[in-house]
Amino acid sequence: MFDGGTSFPRSESPAVRLRLVYPADDPEVWVWEGDAGAVLQTLPQSWRFRCIYWDPPFFTGRDRRGDRGAFVDAWDSLGEYLAVMRRHWEAMAERLRPDGFFALHCDWHASHYLKVLGDAIFGYDQFRNEIVWHYTGRRQGARWRLNAKHDVILVWAKSRRALMHPLFEPWDRAQYVRMKRQKVHRDEEGREWIWGHRGRGRSHAYRIYLDEVVRQGRALDDVWDLPILNTSDRERVGYPTQKPTALLRRLLALLTDPGDLVGDFMAGSGTTGVAARELGRRAVLADVNPEAVAVMIERLRPGAKIDSPLPP
Ligand SMILES: C[S@@+](CC[C@H](N)C(=O)[O-])C[C@H]1O[C@@H](n2cnc3c(N)ncnc32)[C@H](O)[C@@H]1O
Repeated sequence: MFDGGTSFPRSESPAVRLRLVYPADDPEVWVWEGDAGAVLQTLPQSWRFRCIYWDPPFFTGRDRRGDRGAFVDAWDSLGEYLAVMRRHWEAMAERLRPDGFFALHCDWHASHYLKVLGDAIFGYDQFRNEIVWHYTGRRQGARWRLNAKHDVILVWAKSRRALMHPLFEPWDRAQYVRMKRQKVHRDEEGREWIWGHRGRGRSHAYRIYLDEVVRQGRALDDVWDLPILNTSDRERVGYPTQKPTALLRRLLALLTDPGDLVGDFMAGSGTTGVAARELGRRAVLADVNPEAVAVMIERLRPGAKIDSPLPP
């Protein structure tokens, strides 16, 4: 029934209702309605993902409500929550390519337990990064604890073969000079430079030209300052806990190549699909919640407006 490539699998299983967003002759994004584990089981064995992004309920103990849709994030216990994640991730890990990545989005509620669980599944040595997504928002003076303004994205690789794409952010001369806190020199042609060093005691080892540093940009590190979607953001579609497309675009640009297959089995409003389409990646999306599926299909329908402008 499956050829592992272009034709789309059709499941008769009542647990998984299937909807296809794009015409079968040009498949780029597939949307499933159903439990993540059931969808993973139903996919053709030959389908292998370069990246699986997982943005589950965070173990907040609350129902999450938006203008369009709601989902439950209440559990009997932490043990139950972790058991569900383990079941899904064991099935998911089998589906990653040897050069694939698993990116788990979570926050302080359970990130410490989920990191241990991920290590148990992928191996401690396959852990690559804890990306801190730091966002803006209203802040209030606090006595009990500080305002929580970051999520984390924990990244594991399937094997040592998985390589990221170095990404660079623009920065200017003033930012660089402020960071280095060093004297700026000028050469005979008027070009500005500072000393570079190769370790302790070798602080005057070579020249770093400021124009070259600015031209190259700053290599992305593991703290990402990206705005959260505020209530009036044009990108907002009304589904609770919708993530910004810019965040997924950056993650997919870092971890995948054009044409790669990306998976998101708790896809909510389908942000991963939007980012994948913008970057020319193929995506399999799933959600157990019919409201989420309705929102993502609307968002992804050909001709629907692209949520946010592409970076230059
Ligand atoms: C945090 S939201 C995802 C938000 C999404 N990244 C976005 O940008 O809109 C988590 C989603 O997981 C879904 N979910 C919860 N349990 C699930 C399960 N067992 N299988 C599939 N989806 C599930 C919920 O319905 C919810 O839409």
